Amino acid sequence: MNHRIAVTDGLAKEAILYLRKEEYVVDEVSFTKDEINKGSLLDYDAVIIRSATKLDKKAIEANSGGKLKVICRAGVGVDNIDINAATNNGIMVVNAPSSTTKSVAELTLGHLLSCTRHIPKGDRMLRDGIWAKKELRGSELFGKNLGLIGYGRIARNVSNLAIAFGMNIHAFDPYLPNEMFGGITKHETIEDLFSNCTHISVHCNLTEDTRNLVGEKLIDLMPKLGADGSNCGRYLVSLSRGGIVNESELFNCLNNGKLTCAGLDVFETEPVLKNNLLNSDNFIGTPHIAASTVEAQIRVGLESANQIINSLNGEVPTNLINKEILD
Ligand code: MLT
Repeated sequence: MNHRIAVTDGLAKEAILYLRKEEYVVDEVSFTKDEINKGSLLDYDAVIIRSATKLDKKAIEANSGGKLKVICRAGVGVDNIDINAATNNGIMVVNAPSSTTKSVAELTLGHLLSCTRHIPKGDRMLRDGIWAKKELRGSELFGKNLGLIGYGRIARNVSNLAIAFGMNIHAFDPYLPNEMFGGITKHETIEDLFSNCTHISVHCNLTEDTRNLVGEKLIDLMPKLGADGSNCGRYLVSLSRGGIVNESELFNCLNNGKLTCAGLDVFETEPVLKNNLLNSDNFIGTPHIAASTVEAQIRVGLESANQIINSLNGEVPTNLINKEILD
């Protein structure tokens, strides 16, 4: 009998066609949390999710003991899956970590430029009939220190793009060996990183250690002047996961002038319906779209499909997250 795959949060049509061509039965479904908690995935061999479907302990336990063998996160972050619960219930967890790197890195630069050059504000004012040529004086990225929290795949791509803009790259990542920091300045503490950088970008995962990691105390440490001596202001962007930047402290820092501008693509609660930050003129928000490009979504879909195929064929998938399941 053909394996059945549930796709709960959408997937590129190229990936769905590919799986069907390989004779998998693919159902594009939409289950409520309640339905999942009642075992709506029990009859599926695999489920492909993005960030909307939350597979916590309760959801995983309700769907184990049936056919479910693999959960695939079509993307990087697996913080919406209880990995321990999956392991304890014999369910593999895989993801597609490399497909979205370029898209996320490019939007990171987009947020930095939007902040430093007032692009969204300029557009808003223009539409309101205000020609704010004098008011909207920005600053260059050139010659400034960019601090990266986390120096994984996406941060390294951001680093390459930012170097092309003439930025000096600084990073803090306590999990990486020294040889990974070639050509940039490595900091031993996050405090040291903030003390040296007028521009900060967040690139770590959301864990219990990183929840609310970035707040007013760190922002207070940022230098008053740019590395080139200019009065460029201070900027913070995050396109990694909501919850790493403390949003109420960010709001304070935007309103008391400690930060010139900040950009977030990810929020403590998503989707964002109401959020104080949206009342700050020097805040730029996008609705978690860093990976939403035609190119990345096709790559994510195909990478996810291949992870599922390998898992269901009894092979060890290359992106297996809960490797301890093999023990
Ligand atoms: C990811 O973890 O891959 C991204 O946040 C993409 C997404 O969920 O849209």
